[in-house]
Amino acid sequence: MGWLRVLLTAIAAAVLAVIIVLIVSRLISDPSSGRTLVRALGIPRPAVIAHRGASYLAPEETRPAFLMARELGADYLEFDIQRTKDGVLIALHDDDLSRTTNVAEVFPGREKDTIDTFTFAELQQLDAGSWFNRQNPERARGSFKGLGILRLEDIIEIAESGTTRPGIYIETKAAQRFPGIERQLVEALAAHGWMSGRGSQGRARLIFQSFEPDSLARLKELAPDVPRLLLIDEVMTSKDGWKGILKKATEVGAGIGTYGYRWAFGPHWSLRDAPTRHIMTWPWYTGDAHRAGLFVHAWTIDDPWEMWMVRVGGADGIFTNRAELALATYGRERHEDLHSLWNRIGYQ
Ligand code: G3P
Ligand code: CA
Repeated sequence: MGWLRVLLTAIAAAVLAVIIVLIVSRLISDPSSGRTLVRALGIPRPAVIAHRGASYLAPEETRPAFLMARELGADYLEFDIQRTKDGVLIALHDDDLSRTTNVAEVFPGREKDTIDTFTFAELQQLDAGSWFNRQNPERARGSFKGLGILRLEDIIEIAESGTTRPGIYIETKAAQRFPGIERQLVEALAAHGWMSGRGSQGRARLIFQSFEPDSLARLKELAPDVPRLLLIDEVMTSKDGWKGILKKATEVGAGIGTYGYRWAFGPHWSLRDAPTRHIMTWPWYTGDAHRAGLFVHAWTIDDPWEMWMVRVGGADGIFTNRAELALATYGRERHEDLHSLWNRIGYQ
């Protein structure tokens, strides 16, 4: 029975490895310090941040994606804020409209034009849902066809209605292209009552994030009480080093957005790139961040094993395209099946 012995030994080794990882992670990252940091700011832990809404289930940053994230019980609706030519704040991730709309059909020749060259009226002519159906036939819905690009106000309205009250987690995207966008954003949020105090149970219902320290510095000046998080990527870590990044993050914010395993080993990964592909969700990085007084929200975490690893490693929350999976992994699913949820929010 040699094979049985090999199998049992392999299982025992795996169990031992997991136990060692657990113990070492706990010792290094000291989750209690993260808990103290986020508690002081009123941020739930582990925070489940619906990245571009429930974007695995619906077209990113559209109404059904945010409605679904809200009804699933995500803590925050995450989106990227940009501005149209006529000054409307809208939610869109990419610089241009080619990936997520039918811009090529409606405005031929303008596929690669940046969003600031379109008026809001022009954006309203676009279909921001059908691409998802084509790309994900198994998750396609007829009701996604013709979805529109949302304004900041639309997302505020979604967050304020429904059976849960998620916060919003706004990224200033390509902020240097939109001079004054931070002031405009803060004024718009104030006009909707989102700058005054915290939400129910003292929860921080608004967080700002950016890859651009300068944008966060402006937000700090304009809205010092709103938590801010510096997102980091491999270019930044290669350029500034981990210590430099921590310094920048503490100067402009209260949190740091480290990147997860999947991204670090993403499709373009190769052994040659390994020295510059730092994985930043290891517990020792999280521990460093906590000791520097920074909470940690990792992006973008979509696999259960990674959700578990990040949590054991001490991070305080995750950005995820799979809010439904993260909530189930963390034992927070709401026990209403997706079919019934889709019916309830009107996207059968
Ligand atoms: O905003 C959180 C993080 O996922 C940043 O990446 O490119 O999806 O906005 P991105
Ligand atoms: Ca984002």
